[in-house]
Amino acid sequence: MDMNINMYHKLVNQIKYTLMLVCFTSLSVNAETIPANAPEVADIKDALATIVVNVDEISFSCIRDMTPVRHFYVDNLLGDIESTLAAANAPEGAIYPEGSVVQLVPTEVMVKRESGTFPATGDWEFFELEVNEKGSTIAKRGFVDVVNRFDGNCFSCHAPAREKWDFICESGHGCDPIPIDHKMTGALQRSDPRCGEAEPEDGDWMALFKLKSMVTIGLTKKWIEEKF
Ligand code: HEC
Repeated sequence: MDMNINMYHKLVNQIKYTLMLVCFTSLSVNAETIPANAPEVADIKDALATIVVNVDEISFSCIRDMTPVRHFYVDNLLGDIESTLAAANAPEGAIYPEGSVVQLVPTEVMVKRESGTFPATGDWEFFELEVNEKGSTIAKRGFVDVVNRFDGNCFSCHAPAREKWDFICESGHGCDPIPIDHKMTGALQRSDPRCGEAEPEDGDWMALFKLKSMVTIGLTKKWIEEKF
């Protein structure tokens, strides 16, 4: 059911995108007949530009329905998955196209918004989600000031990978490493509650147990720091 809603949502986005392209094409075709400074043209372009990447909670669903790249997943809310994959697989790095969605774990997402939305983050919007069997809710979203559940700022951690890698950290792109290894991220992907039945591999239980202890210790530490 959730997947169908998501597919429907993607389809709507694709239709919007196609309509936008059609509009732009007809705008340029009619360019000679409309005076260059006609306000309507600019207004229409502005209006179109703001609806391009429409992100809400039904933009997100089962992480394993996205396209795997190495140890993470990508998608494109505008349907242009080929361009997103090309950027993700560019050996020397590349700027991800508009609509790109990147996820390593079910609860943290980067979405490439329309060009010029927020130059400081290279137009990436950061999301922290709450996920359960019913789907996703957006706990936090924004550009430079979104922090995760460990109080870590998404943008400042990802910033060292800005040059060449368009803020995508992976390994060896300049970001400080996180204490969560790929065994743990894999276990989280295989047990995303939005996907229905978990598809565990050997060792996942232990990886999740370790992770849970780390989260508990992290949150306990935070709680103690807040109290005293
Ligand atoms: C402590 C630093 C740190 C913080 C805080 C942080 N990240 Fe990351 N993030 C990383 C590192 C390092 C990786 C790469 C991990 C790997 O692949 O082993 C990563 C990976 C990712 C990926 C997969 C693509 C990539 O860059 O490799 C996404 C998407 C992501 N983080 C989103 C977020 C979001 C959203 C937030 C905030 C809610 C956030 N991150 C907070 C360091 C951080």
